[in-house]
Amino acid sequence: MIKTSIFSLLLLLVSGFTTAQSLSSPNAELEMNFSLTDSGEPTYELTYKGKPVIKQSKLGLALKDSEDLLKNFEVENSSETSFDNNWKPVWGETKDIRNHYNQLQVELIQKDTDRKLILNFRLFDEGLGFRYEFPEQQNLTYFVIEEEHSQFAMAGDHTAFWLPGDYDSQEYDYTESKLSEISSKFDTAVTGNASQEQFSNTGVQTSLMMKSSDGLYINLHEAALVDYSLMNLNLDEENLVFESWLTPDAVGNKGYIQTPAVSPWRTIMVSDDATEILASNMNLNLNEPNKLQDTSWIKPVKYIGVWWEMITGKSSWAYTDELPSVQLGKTDYSKTTPNGKHAANTEHVKEYIDFAAEHGFDAVLVEGWNEGWEDWFGKSKDYVFDFVTPYPDFDVEAIHKHAQSKGVKMMMHHETSGAIRNYERHMDTAYQFMNKYDYPAVKSGYVGDIIPRGEHHYGQWAINHFLYAVTKAADYKIMVNAHEAVRPTGLRRTYPNLIGNESARGTEFQAFGGSKPNHVTVLPFTRLIGGPMDYTPGIFEMDISKLNPDNNSHVNSTLANQLAMYVTMYSPLQMAADLPENYMRFPDAFQFIKDVALDWDESEYLEAEPGDYITVARKAKGTNNWFVGNVNGEKTRTSKIEFDFLDKGKMYIATIYADAADAHYKTNPQAYEIKKYRVNSKSRLSQQSAPGGGFAISIIEAEKSEVKDLKKL
Ligand code: NOJ
Ligand code: CA
Repeated sequence: MIKTSIFSLLLLLVSGFTTAQSLSSPNAELEMNFSLTDSGEPTYELTYKGKPVIKQSKLGLALKDSEDLLKNFEVENSSETSFDNNWKPVWGETKDIRNHYNQLQVELIQKDTDRKLILNFRLFDEGLGFRYEFPEQQNLTYFVIEEEHSQFAMAGDHTAFWLPGDYDSQEYDYTESKLSEISSKFDTAVTGNASQEQFSNTGVQTSLMMKSSDGLYINLHEAALVDYSLMNLNLDEENLVFESWLTPDAVGNKGYIQTPAVSPWRTIMVSDDATEILASNMNLNLNEPNKLQDTSWIKPVKYIGVWWEMITGKSSWAYTDELPSVQLGKTDYSKTTPNGKHAANTEHVKEYIDFAAEHGFDAVLVEGWNEGWEDWFGKSKDYVFDFVTPYPDFDVEAIHKHAQSKGVKMMMHHETSGAIRNYERHMDTAYQFMNKYDYPAVKSGYVGDIIPRGEHHYGQWAINHFLYAVTKAADYKIMVNAHEAVRPTGLRRTYPNLIGNESARGTEFQAFGGSKPNHVTVLPFTRLIGGPMDYTPGIFEMDISKLNPDNNSHVNSTLANQLAMYVTMYSPLQMAADLPENYMRFPDAFQFIKDVALDWDESEYLEAEPGDYITVARKAKGTNNWFVGNVNGEKTRTSKIEFDFLDKGKMYIATIYADAADAHYKTNPQAYEIKKYRVNSKSRLSQQSAPGGGFAISIIEAEKSEVKDLKKL
């Protein structure tokens, strides 16, 4: 620490207040240079081990009805500081997190307008974060953002894993292509959704994962998105320069700011080792510390749900097929005939509760329990649900009592169908209802176009709603898992009751036509950079027509790959998404889902290549037990892993759940084998994974007497 501050002082003295300043990462592998152009435009560049990552790129914002904050700046002051501390997350991949960076703060003054703008650069060993700070001042109180013009000039035509930039949907498959090929592949990359709007055929979403031809892994995203619009990136394909492209509101404006204010952090992670991108805590570190006083009620949750049967079309959310439309409070459901497919009925829910109790699950999610599902989206309807009125066949009181008697919690479902104001109007009563019937967590959803009409899912207005829902839930000691909400940017550090988000293409799409088999080897490099995903793994029956003869979708994954995701897709909230009867067909494989932990003391990223494979080992909280997951892309591959993460001198039983030799995600997804070995820190494993396959391992500490009959690995 002392060393760094002397170094900082020296740096300050050397650079003085000239317009060029440089900043090094704590390990000196990254270097950032800030400078002003001749016309006073702020710029930065970034190198890693001497290689260019971001070439000189401009910074600034265009304002509506006011002079832009783009040029004519002078440096008024600058300072460099260092920061190094450790903190403990309420839940997470590791029990301790180190936050270590060097910071350069540049105070700019715009000559002609006398307005101040501060640029903050934080350089970590894993990358750079920068943000705009708008101090309170006479000449800049309120302003409207026309566009943010933060540039990211790439140093080469990298390979990218990208999703089409969109104001309303994140539920796309990844396209892998050169940057220069984005526009030509854009139309094929866009697939349908209940609400979507693209803005440019070179527009992509963050978190964007790239690989350079000389082996650098580069990731662009943002951190701490609060009271601001979400950023997409638009590429100038000729010059390979990305520029920020914010989400507009209903009248096309991109943000309303009152000073003092800050923008979210723009982040650039870089490494020549892909596992370091997965291990990085930079995104979390750029968020504010936990704001909740009492977190004792926030607990990781393993759950099952009355859900997959609706997603596959085997059952329905709706109670009846007779109603052409519904008017809450007026429609009399007791006069309608049930359609015989309504899954959220008391008897069926009790079966799920019993199954959860028998197999050690914490909670049961039930969707389609409340009135309104007969016409719930696509009608631009405001008052779709009231979140407290059950269907006639859902006895909330009896279900509550039954769950309580079995020691199982219920998980609430609030589908808002995008009618955000309607949800806010009902939020207090909805959360009180949850408290009354002991539902400690809610899965919320935002399917369809947002109301107020013209607003987008990721505009500042909706962003503020998503956070309002989380903070208000905290008042009621409720944990939130929001689907179709904005992709996370590390806010779980500040509000640890935000235990999950969907905000990407989850398992549901395997029942809507399927996802690419390597999808789950990309997500940890992209969507999961900002926070955990409610991916809902655990599908054992890949042929959806077995559940619903009218649905020919196929789950593009092997059964072993489904198990591995409980480790590779870190989340404190994990679902076992398939139907209980499918688990009972494969009880030995189901055992892994029952055993796997949700919260971790340590995580080791053993090997990784976006699009191809990821192998992770995690140590279960408060134990000496480890769980390993490997997910594999389209090509058969053999992992060679060492167990040197285990404590020296200790014995363990490793149970390996792997693809059988002839397994394949398409033709033979259920072929797996389970083997048990005696292992220690010197053990090594060579394990083959099938196309779209993987393996999962539980490694449980054991006594000598317990392992004596087991083969050594
Ligand atoms: C989309 C969500 O992702 C899914 O999980 C949910 O079942 C439906 N919306 C209905 O709310
Ligand atoms: Ca969804």
